[in-house]
Amino acid sequence: MVMELYGRAILNYASTRLVCCGITTVNPGDASKTWSQVARVCEQAERARLPRHGVIAGVGGGVTLDISGLAASLYHRGVGYVRVPTTLMGMVDVAVGIKHAINFNGKKSLLGAFYPPLGVVNDFGFLKTLPRTELANGFSEIIKLGMVRDRILFEWLEQYGERLLRSGFQEPLAWARRIALRSEYVMMADLQPNLYESEFRRFPDFGHTFSAGIEEASDYLLPHGQAVAIDMLLATIIAVRRGLCTGDVLSRLTALYRGLGLLALPSICTGEVLAGALTSTRLHRGGQIHMVLPAGLGEGRFVEDVDAEEACCALDRAVEICAAAKSTYYAGTSR
Ligand SMILES: NC(=O)c1ccc[n+]([C@@H]2O[C@H](COP(=O)([O-])OP(=O)(O)OC[C@H]3O[C@@H](n4cnc5c(N)ncnc54)[C@H](O)[C@@H]3O)[C@@H](O)[C@H]2O)c1
Repeated sequence: MVMELYGRAILNYASTRLVCCGITTVNPGDASKTWSQVARVCEQAERARLPRHGVIAGVGGGVTLDISGLAASLYHRGVGYVRVPTTLMGMVDVAVGIKHAINFNGKKSLLGAFYPPLGVVNDFGFLKTLPRTELANGFSEIIKLGMVRDRILFEWLEQYGERLLRSGFQEPLAWARRIALRSEYVMMADLQPNLYESEFRRFPDFGHTFSAGIEEASDYLLPHGQAVAIDMLLATIIAVRRGLCTGDVLSRLTALYRGLGLLALPSICTGEVLAGALTSTRLHRGGQIHMVLPAGLGEGRFVEDVDAEEACCALDRAVEICAAAKSTYYAGTSR
C-alpha cells in the first residue's frame, strides 16, 4: 500500500536527492515478517552493490521497519539504517526503540536484533491515508503509556483521541504533535537507561504479556495494536480484582476503547491461548513474567504471580464487557 500511495514520490526524491541504488517492497501483514522477506531486502542490497558505508532506509509501517531494520543489521554485518515510519504505531512505538524482529517457528518476534538506526523521520502527512483501524492500532501503544506511566497522556487521549482518529491524526494538529511527542518522550525515558533490555522488568511491556500468544493464535491476522489492547484490558481487569486500581480506571479504559474502536475480543482469544502466552512470556523475560498491571491511572506495578486461572477469569469478564458494549468483534471464549 505504501508503494502504491507514495512509491512515485519516494522514487522521485531518491533519484534527485540521493545516490539511490535500488528499491524493493516487502509483503504487508505480520505474517510476512519472515526470513524470506529479510533475505529479499538483502538480495536487493547485494544486487545494487550497496557498500559497507551505505544506508538502508525502511519506509512503511512496523512490519516494513522490522524487516528492513533486521536486514540492515545483518548486511555486511551492519550498514546504516534510517527509519521513515508511515503508521502511528511506527512513529510512536517502533521507531522510538532500537529493536527489530521477525516471527520464527510459529513464535512472534523470536529472531531479531538490537540495532540503533542512524535516524528517524516522522512525517504526520503519511497518516492522512492510513485506514482508521490502523490508526487506532497505533493509539493502543499510546494508551499503554498513559495507563502505567503518564496519567496526563491518558487524559489527553480521552479529550482528543476521537477527533484525531476521525481526522487521520491531523486535527487538532497541535494536539496531534503534543500527544505523539509526549508519548515518544515517556517511552524514551523508560528505554534510554535499558536500551538493550538487560533489565527484564519494563513498563513499556504493559499490554505485551498475552498479546504475542494471541497474535500467534490468530496466525498473525489480528493486528499487533488490537492484541495489545486486549492484553491491556485483561491486565486492568486483573488489577481491579486485586484491588490495585479502582473500577473507574477500567471504565475509563473501556470508554476510550469504545471511542477508538478498540473494544474487541476475537474468538481465538481462549483460556488455552492465554496460558500458553504466560509460559512463552516467562521464557522471554528470563524465567519470570514481570507482568505490568495498572496501579491507579498513570502508575504501574510489576507482579509475578498471575496464573492461567486468573487470566481465564479476566477473560470471562472481558467477554461480558465486550458483550455489554455490543462490540463488533465479540465472540465467546472456548476453554
Ligand atoms: N520492533 C519494535 O520495537 C516493534 C514495536 C511495536 C510493534 N512492532 C511491530 O510492528 C508491526 C505493526 O506495525 P503497524 O501497526 O505499523 O502495522 P503494519 O506495518 O502492518 O501496517 C499496517 C497497514 O497499513 C498500511 N500502511 C502503512 N502506512 C500507510 C499509509 N501511510 N497509508 C495507508 N496505508 C498504510 C500497510 O501497508 C499495512 O497494510 C507488528 O509486526 C509489530 O510486531 C515492532
